[in-house]
Amino acid sequence: MNITVVGTGYVGLVSGATFSEIGHNVMCIDNDDKKVAMLKRLEMPIYEEGLDEIVRKNVKAGRLHFSNCIKEGTEFAEVIFIAVGTPPMSTGEANMSYVERVGREVAENMTSYRLLVEKSTVIVNTNEQLKRTMTKYLKNDIPFDIASNPEFLREGTAIKDAFNPDRIVVGIESNRAARLLKEIYEPIVKKSGCPYLEMNIASAELTKHASNSFLAMKISFINAVSRICEITGADIGQVAHGVGLDKRIGPQFLSAGVGYGGSCFPKDVDAFIRMGDECGYSLNILKEVQRINASQREHLMRKLQQELWVLEDKTIAIFGLAFKAGTDDVRESPSLYFVPKLLEKKAKLRLWDPIAKGKFDQDHPGLHYFDNLMECADGADAVLILTDWPEIKQLDLDQLKKNMKCPIIMDGRNLFDPKTMAGKGFTYHCIGKKQAVAMK
Ligand code: UDX
Ligand code: UDX
Repeated sequence: MNITVVGTGYVGLVSGATFSEIGHNVMCIDNDDKKVAMLKRLEMPIYEEGLDEIVRKNVKAGRLHFSNCIKEGTEFAEVIFIAVGTPPMSTGEANMSYVERVGREVAENMTSYRLLVEKSTVIVNTNEQLKRTMTKYLKNDIPFDIASNPEFLREGTAIKDAFNPDRIVVGIESNRAARLLKEIYEPIVKKSGCPYLEMNIASAELTKHASNSFLAMKISFINAVSRICEITGADIGQVAHGVGLDKRIGPQFLSAGVGYGGSCFPKDVDAFIRMGDECGYSLNILKEVQRINASQREHLMRKLQQELWVLEDKTIAIFGLAFKAGTDDVRESPSLYFVPKLLEKKAKLRLWDPIAKGKFDQDHPGLHYFDNLMECADGADAVLILTDWPEIKQLDLDQLKKNMKCPIIMDGRNLFDPKTMAGKGFTYHCIGKKQAVAMK
């Protein structure tokens, strides 16, 4: 089937590439000419494991095309996925203007039936707004449908997630839309055996916000417990293990740390709260989730300040700029909190990240970036770990200690065992466990 995907970001490009991999003919549209030119040269504008292979393969097979022209995309396919960004505005609200614009432009250019599918994360009942917009801008009385098909792709494992989803959710309100979406997803459902859920559009839209908010709540819950652990002498690793083995709870998303980031959880929790307030049911539970998340960063910052007393002129090596391992994405990353705060306090920063350096540098030019972890830690008064990159765990700790001025590690991701670290001569702070002091 022919499919158009508008927006070639973390979600749109992965979705378009995977649709082509399962045999559809896909046109990916983006209004960023530079991105389109890069993609045509088979250069990836984002880092996502396995993405470039699939893109190359399907472009060569003639199943995947790129364009900056929405008219072309509208003519190309009966089904058009909207995967443009919905970034937070200065008010905190998600910016829906890109989604609206796609609706408008598709309406202006379509000459026969089109199914417009919301893949971007939107608040419940956005489909009603889209319908109104489409109707206003349609030149003739041409039939169309709106559907919702939320994405549940985790950056870093997005390709794997796309082929092996826990479920596929589609919100539809016509048989035609149902038939088209079923045909698109059939190869994935057949191969992975995943549940394929059809529901009304509002329910599909809500499923996305409810899922992400619940996962964010799980993280904030374990972070709250980690603070109690620090006060009482319990160990969050052991507690989370004990709690997570209950099948009703499950072990995932119970890693305490410096708080969640990324382009989804912070924005989606915020949008869900706003939606609740607007429709008259206050989701106070999620306001607490946000408060706990913010407090995790402040808490680690306080610990660092207490450990070093004065931060001015201290050299801090920051390990990890991405919001999680496996991605170059720095949106809402903990590093965006710590770097400005430490610069404000006149600390000297040395920064390391295997792939997010470029994206971070765009807004933070003039800082010292290192390709090598050991080099980054050279002469540091403290190392601050912000991303769970596997390279950090593989470090030669004896060498690291030799390289640092003071062997102090502030670990926002609980990557090491405190006792081992103390044994190696480090003063080691992490989250939800007793501080380990270097054994002489
Ligand atoms: C997606 C979703 O759309 C968002 O709602 C969800 O919460 C997270 O995932 P993402 O793919 O991460 O967003 O965004 P981004 O990487 O910024 O990609 C969006 C793309 O849309 C960009 O390439 C941008 O150039 C393009 N775009 C934006 C358009 O093509 N047209 C526009 O009008 C606006
Ligand atoms: C999320 C959703 O998981 C995914 O289904 C989709 O809707 C897009 O948004 P993503 O933001 O890519 O995916 O990453 P995810 O793995 O969910 O992690 C989000 C944040 O939570 C990261 O900052 C991560 O470090 C943090 N996290 C995750 C924790 O702090 N503890 C955990 O136990 C798990």
